[in-house]
Amino acid sequence: LDNGVARTPPMGWLHWERFLCGTDCAAEPERCVSERLFTEMADVMSADGWKEAGYEFVCIDDCWMAPTRDERGRLRADPRRFPSGIRALADYVHSKGLKLGIYSDVGSRTCAGFPGSYGHYELDAQTFASWGVDLLKFDGCNVQSSGTEAVPGQRANTGRPIVYSCEWPFYLRPMQQPNYTEIKQYCNHWRNFYDVYDSWNSIKSIVEWTALHQDSIVKIAGPGGWNDPDMLVIGNFGLSWEQAVTQMAMWAIMAAPLFMSNDLRHMKPEAKWLLQNKEAIAINQDPLGKQGYRITKDKNFELWERPLSDRAYAVAVLNQQEIGGPQNFTFSLTFLGNGLACNPACCIQQLLPTSRDWGVHSWVSSLSVEVNPTGTVLLKVAPL
Ligand code: GLA
Repeated sequence: LDNGVARTPPMGWLHWERFLCGTDCAAEPERCVSERLFTEMADVMSADGWKEAGYEFVCIDDCWMAPTRDERGRLRADPRRFPSGIRALADYVHSKGLKLGIYSDVGSRTCAGFPGSYGHYELDAQTFASWGVDLLKFDGCNVQSSGTEAVPGQRANTGRPIVYSCEWPFYLRPMQQPNYTEIKQYCNHWRNFYDVYDSWNSIKSIVEWTALHQDSIVKIAGPGGWNDPDMLVIGNFGLSWEQAVTQMAMWAIMAAPLFMSNDLRHMKPEAKWLLQNKEAIAINQDPLGKQGYRITKDKNFELWERPLSDRAYAVAVLNQQEIGGPQNFTFSLTFLGNGLACNPACCIQQLLPTSRDWGVHSWVSSLSVEVNPTGTVLLKVAPL
């Protein structure tokens, strides 16, 4: 979507994967979906280096609403959980130098059963803009028809640049092949596949789906419009260290929006180090805006590359083997960039799992990369 925003993949925090639809604030005051959750997250984001690292959006997902619209038909926040209202929350988030995201649904109800935007597209867009919202995640549950009739309502001329995060293209899949050229006209990023879970199985299946569909989706991505493989779950419970590194490295290669869903108030230092890793984030945010792709899959190893600005490449070597110890993958540098990435020579830097200088290589040489099971080594290859 050419609305001036999301020129690089948007970065922030989104409550869903970690906090789901917690509405019982009496029993779970720290975990329920309430203004406290978002103000505390905004506080931590501005205090603990997240904002400096590039994470900018504090995003509300499903379950923020009251069960009914107000007397004028407008959406409203649950008054017990958001007593100050969304406008005040947006002001607070803005006062921290951050932006606020909100959630609605193209259909008659949200996925969790709250009021949907069907029949109210213009009004809801105006409401969100009047509250000062900066991003809208538009889900696709409970859609009566194919969903395409919703499209006009999503370009409401509110005069406010809102990052438009679309989930409805995913729901079109069973009925029709999504038309990505059209989707990119309406959306800044869009989901293609199932919800991320806090598990290696989930991360693995998202990466595999992306590789299997790369011929149709990679070419579409670019400034203003990105494929969205869903949230970063690093810092939660389900991923080992190696798997967390794989998620960070692969989300950088895939030019994915980086929305963490975790509890920033209680983060282990190593998860914070990884999520705030400047070099991996620089790959993700590369201004050329080209999404990476899988070059080859050889037994348990996958080799991925992403073209970067200044003729450089990001390269990921992923070891899918889930038995045994570290394994070496050896490949010729002529594999990279159609033979051009390291021609006649290049500097190679390892970015993850640790930062290390690999020095100068000539294009006829081979690289041998040691990767732990389910881990990834992320490299940057720059021409001399
Ligand atoms: C769907 C979406 C999730 C989340 C929930 C909320 O499952 O895919 O990302 O928004 O709905 O109910």
